[in-house]
Amino acid sequence: MEGATLDHHVLDMPKPERYAHLLGTVHALVEGESDWLANLANVAAAVYAGVPGLNWAGFYLMRGGELVVGPFQGLPACVRIAVGRGVCGTAVGERATQVVPDVHAFPGHIACDPRSRSEIVVPIEVGGSVVAVLDLDSDRLGHFDDDDRRGLEALVRVVAPAIDWARAGSS
Ligand code: SME
Repeated sequence: MEGATLDHHVLDMPKPERYAHLLGTVHALVEGESDWLANLANVAAAVYAGVPGLNWAGFYLMRGGELVVGPFQGLPACVRIAVGRGVCGTAVGERATQVVPDVHAFPGHIACDPRSRSEIVVPIEVGGSVVAVLDLDSDRLGHFDDDDRRGLEALVRVVAPAIDWARAGSS
């Protein structure tokens, strides 16, 4: 796809409609492109632009048994996160999306950007293993809810088959 269009009216839509639109954008971005890095970079940018209220959005990739920061939008972030640590490592350990309304109340939260107040992390599972997580941070308390969880879980189901995870996971 030649350049995604991001209309401002999209940001005013109800969340489920907004995610349906974002899903279409993401599908168009990754369709027919086999480069994993290009695809993850474009998806991170589409999520950052298409979900209001974010200060960070991107991927951590499972590499050598730990999470390593991948393509993202936002301030520089901690590079390596052990499985079971922080919100991201918990999403891997539990193989379940973590919706954290107040990061300061989450035991072991890793503060990369002090502006972050709430967070959602969606694990990406392929062939029974977690290969990456999608992490979104907001400077607003309680910014993410079940609509975000459903929308982002649907989004990673579109992204996962478009990525060569063996390549993405080798350092
Ligand atoms: N807060 C995350 C670390 C990654 S940053 O938010 C980008 C965590 O606790 O896992």
